[in-house]
Amino acid sequence: MTPEAVPLGGPRFQTEPARLYREMRRDHGAVTPVVLDGDVPAWLVVGYRELHQVTGDPVLFSRDSDLWNQWDLIPDDWPLLPMIGRKQPSILYTVGERHRERAGMISDALEAVDPFELRGHAERFADELIDGLCTSGEADLIGQYAMLLPVRVLARLYGFSDEEGPGLVTALNDMIDGRERAIAGQTHLATSMAQLLADRKADPADDVVSRMLQDKSGFTDEEMMNDLMVMMAAGHQPTADWIGNSLRLMLTDSRFAASLFGGRNSVAEAMNEVLWEDTPSQNIAGRWASRDTQLGGRRIRAGDLLILGLQGANSDPQVRTDASALTGGNNAHFSFGHGEHRCPFPAQEVAEVIARTGIEVVLDRLPDIDLAVPADSLTRRPSPWLRGLTALPVRFTPVPAL
Ligand code: HEM
Repeated sequence: MTPEAVPLGGPRFQTEPARLYREMRRDHGAVTPVVLDGDVPAWLVVGYRELHQVTGDPVLFSRDSDLWNQWDLIPDDWPLLPMIGRKQPSILYTVGERHRERAGMISDALEAVDPFELRGHAERFADELIDGLCTSGEADLIGQYAMLLPVRVLARLYGFSDEEGPGLVTALNDMIDGRERAIAGQTHLATSMAQLLADRKADPADDVVSRMLQDKSGFTDEEMMNDLMVMMAAGHQPTADWIGNSLRLMLTDSRFAASLFGGRNSVAEAMNEVLWEDTPSQNIAGRWASRDTQLGGRRIRAGDLLILGLQGANSDPQVRTDASALTGGNNAHFSFGHGEHRCPFPAQEVAEVIARTGIEVVLDRLPDIDLAVPADSLTRRPSPWLRGLTALPVRFTPVPAL
């Protein structure tokens, strides 16, 4: 790895990521050498074309982490292990035909979710959360709302009881932020999933887990459990951040603020703009080169780790010559990935319904909502990975619970 490597961490990923990615591209090109916690080297792919190449060629740029040429450097308690883990039997690390079968099983189980029922669950949980805060006239829409909503809806779809939701939220957040409580969070999640699988095996119901268990491709319990972990973790946090980042945009940008009182189109527009400009899936790990190759003028060695710089690629000046022109109804962004390992389409739809419902319920129930702090005092979680607000303090005229 080259000595010029940029640390993949630090305050600028929170405070000014757009400028940071511009500088990376200017100083290092579309494929930037980076170092992760513990001086572990990797490449961050911030070019749109290069990211297309990486995600479109799952054989050359594999999901198989066994290929990594840095395993000797990685301690057992490395905080990023839950995210860039040793090969686990989950869909994320499966390749080839078996991956296609597995993605099919998950897609089928999610596709069978009735969109009206889904909308109903999302509305019910959103209303419950708003009931808990609407009489006070002030709230933090991240801690009291966005971070509690997607997991509750997903837990319901998958087959969990409502009471298990809050424990799962804490465990997930700890795991995804990759800090000292990461491993404990992962353990809590895994135990809950194992229990749910056992319960549904004994007593099938009309839910996602029961449908996965009916799949005939012969996946083991361990494989299913790992997939459920992914579906919960990969589902909750980015959807919560999508809600938070979109509400922030609507509350701080006059183009949207003016329409808070009426225009529903503006919700979809804000959500799409967020996926281009302020995506929850800022950087995602990763792919491993299966042989020596070239990418964006860089020499990539067999076993090198490539991190998908989704936000960097979304704002690549090569595709964004006029920054505002592409956002509108255009969804050629990378926020859901691309290629065989992209976010499954039915999962994207579930996320969209949850996020959109979550935002609409806030606007319907708290029509004169406004930021309670100056916009420039809002802060992001200290993570170069999933991008979301630490808090979104708002005030509004108190209204009675439903
Ligand atoms: C209900 C919500 C969601 C569920 C259940 C879900 C589930 C999944 C699953 C199972 C995968 C792995 C696919 C594979 O390896 O074949 C995945 C990948 C991915 N998801 Fe989602 N997801 C959800 C929401 C989101 C949201 C809101 C975003 C971002 C805005 C997102 C971004 C991604 C990305 C970028 C990948 C690809 C990672 C890669 O290429 O390595 N997902 N998702």
